[in-house]
Amino acid sequence: MRRIFRDPLMGCSRVSTTCVIGLQWGDEAKGKLVHLLAEQHEIVVRYQGGANAGHTVVSGTETYKLSLVPSGILVPNVRCVITGGVVLHPPALLAEMDGLTARGVQIGENFMISDRAHVIFPWHLLEDRLLDSERGNGESIGTTQRGIGPCYRDKVGRNHAIRLGDLFRDNFPEQVERTVAAKRAALSGICSGEDLATLDVANIARDYQELGARLRPFAGDTTSYLLDATESGKRILCEGAQGALLDIDHGTFPYVTSSNSSGVGISNGSGIPGRWINKVLGVVKAYSTRVGGGPFPTEQDNDIGQQLRDRGNEYGTVTRRPRRCGWLDAVAIRYTARLSGVNSLAVMLLDVLSGLPELNICTSYELNGERTRNFPSQVEDLRRVTPVYETLPGWEEDISGVKARSSLPKNALAYLARIEELVGRPVEIISVGPERNQTIHG
Ligand code: GDP
Ligand code: IMO
Ligand code: MG
Repeated sequence: MRRIFRDPLMGCSRVSTTCVIGLQWGDEAKGKLVHLLAEQHEIVVRYQGGANAGHTVVSGTETYKLSLVPSGILVPNVRCVITGGVVLHPPALLAEMDGLTARGVQIGENFMISDRAHVIFPWHLLEDRLLDSERGNGESIGTTQRGIGPCYRDKVGRNHAIRLGDLFRDNFPEQVERTVAAKRAALSGICSGEDLATLDVANIARDYQELGARLRPFAGDTTSYLLDATESGKRILCEGAQGALLDIDHGTFPYVTSSNSSGVGISNGSGIPGRWINKVLGVVKAYSTRVGGGPFPTEQDNDIGQQLRDRGNEYGTVTRRPRRCGWLDAVAIRYTARLSGVNSLAVMLLDVLSGLPELNICTSYELNGERTRNFPSQVEDLRRVTPVYETLPGWEEDISGVKARSSLPKNALAYLARIEELVGRPVEIISVGPERNQTIHG
């Protein structure tokens, strides 16, 4: 007799997983949005990246800079989950947790960390520092130096990878010993004796065992937890880190981060099957910014760029580096919206554009004498494109207090409408200031 299996997705109106994905080079104000949407969800999930992320949440008079802890942690009755797709630096995570607790934020039963998450060790920080400056073509990636790339490299390489669950085992010190021996051998030619001395087996094993003991109460199998949660119809919000143009496979390689930061990474990072994800909200800053190296066709290394930087306070949340600023690039956003399976857009920091007499939007690229709306796969080509701009009139009014879309200046409405046309997705949310009430829905 044939057994009949029930498809848990039958009657899939119960399935409710939404994802917030940055569509540029990061810092699109995902943190604000996740915090805002978290109220309508039961679970908020961080599923890729690590402490390279800096997500700002303004809540009343308080400003929080979240790095590893999901931005839903500030909302009561929301369970926050860090999955195995994230690379964890225990000192950074615990410092962040302690900082939040000291400010009265509850972190207990509402917090879970995957025991599959790969752990960042001192050698990863060292490698990040030594190897990023080594590219030799005059432009380094300009990483956040948080050990992200080296840790993901060891994960894929497998031989020297250590996961959170390993910290709890008796043979952990031997694992550290083996790994330190290999790292010392690999690094001895390129790093100073002082740096090598920081790779001390006994100290690292002891410190990480202590840190692990503090994290253990939160550790568990988040994959099974999220599969159960999805099947039982829990409302889940996935919080993307970085932006789709920094995606390791589909971004501006090699000037990218080491995880799948576009929509394609949601499933592999979280363990939630793709067909269970029913909404992807693409987050777009109303202009463009980039931190670190790599091509940036619409960059304005001039007064306009400086004006955007000043008005938007465009300095890195993690490293405080000044962000490179430029015009909105609809070629890039159309590409990342399609790549990420975006249903609708959230346009953030629209208020920053007030007072600019004219606004440029890049509508196509010119490459080798031809116009294209395709985003090049090779950075060498992206470096050579000439952006083709359409100029729209700006608006003078301060819009930071506007509550309804219909109350926006007509030129701001025209700017949004043009983004919708060029990207091919509706704008569902408009942000006109860092605070949650500076948000226009619909
Ligand atoms: P994330 O990494 O995508 O979460 O973004 P960041 O937090 O790194 O950077 C976004 C910055 O913009 C933060 O300082 C936010 O407080 C701020 N912000 C968010 N939304 C708005 C907005 O609509 N207008 C303005 N002026 N600032 C905003
Ligand atoms: P959020 O989540 C902006 C950039 C770095 C560098 C490149 C690789 O706040 O949007 P990495 O340390 O990841 O190896 O650095 O990626 N980068 C970000 N830029 N926002 C981020 O995160 C970023 N995370 C990494 O500046 O160019
Ligand atoms: Mg950020």
